[in-house]
Amino acid sequence: MPGSLDGKVAIVTGAGRGLGRVMTLGLLAAGARVAATELDAEALDQTGQAAEAAGAGDRILDVVADVTRDDSAPKIVRAAIERYGRLDILLNNAGINMSLFRQPDMKFATKLWEVTPEEFRRIIDVNVVAAFLMTRAALPTMLKQGWGRIINVTTSLDTMYRGGMQPYGGSKAANEAHLLALAQELEGTGVTANVLVPGGAANTRMVSQAQQPDRAKLVSPDVMVAPLVWLCSNESDGVNGQRFIGARWDKNLPVAEAAKKAGAPAAWQQLGRQAIVPGSTP
Ligand SMILES: NC(=O)c1ccc[n+]([C@@H]2O[C@H](COP(=O)([O-])OP(=O)(O)OC[C@H]3O[C@@H](n4cnc5c(N)ncnc54)[C@H](O)[C@@H]3O)[C@@H](O)[C@H]2O)c1
Repeated sequence: MPGSLDGKVAIVTGAGRGLGRVMTLGLLAAGARVAATELDAEALDQTGQAAEAAGAGDRILDVVADVTRDDSAPKIVRAAIERYGRLDILLNNAGINMSLFRQPDMKFATKLWEVTPEEFRRIIDVNVVAAFLMTRAALPTMLKQGWGRIINVTTSLDTMYRGGMQPYGGSKAANEAHLLALAQELEGTGVTANVLVPGGAANTRMVSQAQQPDRAKLVSPDVMVAPLVWLCSNESDGVNGQRFIGARWDKNLPVAEAAKKAGAPAAWQQLGRQAIVPGSTP
């Protein structure tokens, strides 16, 4: 796997901690150059230090930015292209849930009516709007190149409608629905759009100590790396509109088999086709 992404340029959002940091380091280890972007400058600096310790050299570029702002996405894309000359991969990873607005020692399950309008809007802004803004800014370059990858980190399907998990769950459902529609619109362009999730509560800040004191029960962020590197490589050409579960990726299998085992169509296509088309018999 090392070296399989030589020459490729990626943007990773939310690269300062958690899954974003692990995936940034994974892309670098596979040879990619990465524009790592993050709201929290201190956290991003720590990712930079870990990259340096791993020997990434000048293959990492730090961009401190809030991806919900209209002016951030063009700025991040411009910075990546100015530094590295191209853009191949956008990993929409930045995300927040209600834990950001609650005390870290609180075990909570927020009822939808207890969420403030400001909290609701912020979660939609980070988890839905920012992914749109970044995708919109990155796609023209990828379409011109005739090769590219949009990868969104959403969440497990049952989290999307689970009580106590809103508006996080619903925001991820919106994100994944947009991604699947985008995948259809990208058919034949050489650019693909896919979803990557850990496959359960993962061991990051997002799942607090109070929520899950036994950290060993949480999914390791490392499970994201092997499917991510494959998705970003030429080996996954033509794979489009799929969702991959990191925890189900079996590194002992040949990649094509591992991908088959860990993958499924994105969103909930199997539940579709319920609408009555005018003129058809229900
Ligand atoms: N941890 C889990 O159990 C889990 C499960 C499924 C999916 N996910 C998803 O994985 C992704 C990464 O989550 P994580 O668990 O690593 O969380 P995390 O809180 O450890 O990391 C998220 C990072 O995104 C950054 N970020 C937040 N808002 C931002 C903004 N507006 N602009 C730029 N950066 C911003 C944060 O500062 C943070 O460093 C999220 O999209 C999350 O929804 C997480």
